[in-house]
Amino acid sequence: MPRIAYVNGRYVDHRAAAVHVEDRGYQFADGVYEVIHLFRNRLIDEEPHLDRLDRSLRELDMAWPMGRAAMRVAMREIVRRNGYATGLLYIQVTRGVAPRDHKFPQLPMSSLVMTVRPIPEFPDDMREEGVAVVTIDDIRWARRDIKSISLLPNVLGKQAAADAGAYEAWMIDADGMVTEGTSSNAWIVNGEGTLVTRPADHDILRGITRQAILRMADELDIAFEERPFSRDEALGAREAFMSNSSHFVTPVTRIDDNAIANGRPGSLSTALHERYLDFMKEFQKLN
Ligand code: PDD
Repeated sequence: MPRIAYVNGRYVDHRAAAVHVEDRGYQFADGVYEVIHLFRNRLIDEEPHLDRLDRSLRELDMAWPMGRAAMRVAMREIVRRNGYATGLLYIQVTRGVAPRDHKFPQLPMSSLVMTVRPIPEFPDDMREEGVAVVTIDDIRWARRDIKSISLLPNVLGKQAAADAGAYEAWMIDADGMVTEGTSSNAWIVNGEGTLVTRPADHDILRGITRQAILRMADELDIAFEERPFSRDEALGAREAFMSNSSHFVTPVTRIDDNAIANGRPGSLSTALHERYLDFMKEFQKLN
């Protein structure tokens, strides 16, 4: 089955999929995106992702490319046409095509691109071994709550991590506090066994996985605090992990070459990941 992309109303061969050179996403990064996990033919947390897309669009005064119900139909169709049971659905909306001029175009018609990429169902290596993280300055803009396609600082950060032999970079704000990873939210478990993650204000992206983990912590009677934590607190933590829609819960076992606790994935990180997998399976049955 050939890989298919959706580009402004058309389903096209992925290799030939293209947008106009004056698409504002291409010229100004004037757009937003979502990544949704497709698990056994079900889009996990589809509605919260669409809610966040709606919020990102509103914050930027950008129109939906089509109604939300039609969008759901198109999402299903691109998934169906690609035929992967498990993968990642990428959705990108930009302010559309117009002659290059910074201010909004007169008749904005937003553009929509969607792709689906297969991923292995339960890649256990990262989870069993944990991953290494480096810390870098957070040089992003002040509205990280908007899921903007303008990801240059994130790209530079992820490359810095790769150059250091690490998997992710945790960004540090001007007060020495961890904001989040370049494509994930950051978590620690402190000495009292309390889960700590930064509050979802304008400084970080309100991760959909983050929300699900907080819900699960509540169900599992795990104490949690939404507050900033420093690099030093992370270095002394009992556990650390990162979360996102692609990998759910991934244990962080090293930060800047310091082992976290005994350098092995922690029990709470593992329990939360297991619980997440259960949630995905339940979600599958219910939908
Ligand atoms: N990234 N923080 C940032 C900066 C992110 O880019 C992401 C997701 C998250 C986690 O959000 P969620 O749980 O909703 O996936 C936090 C996606 C996966 C990406 O850019 O590929």
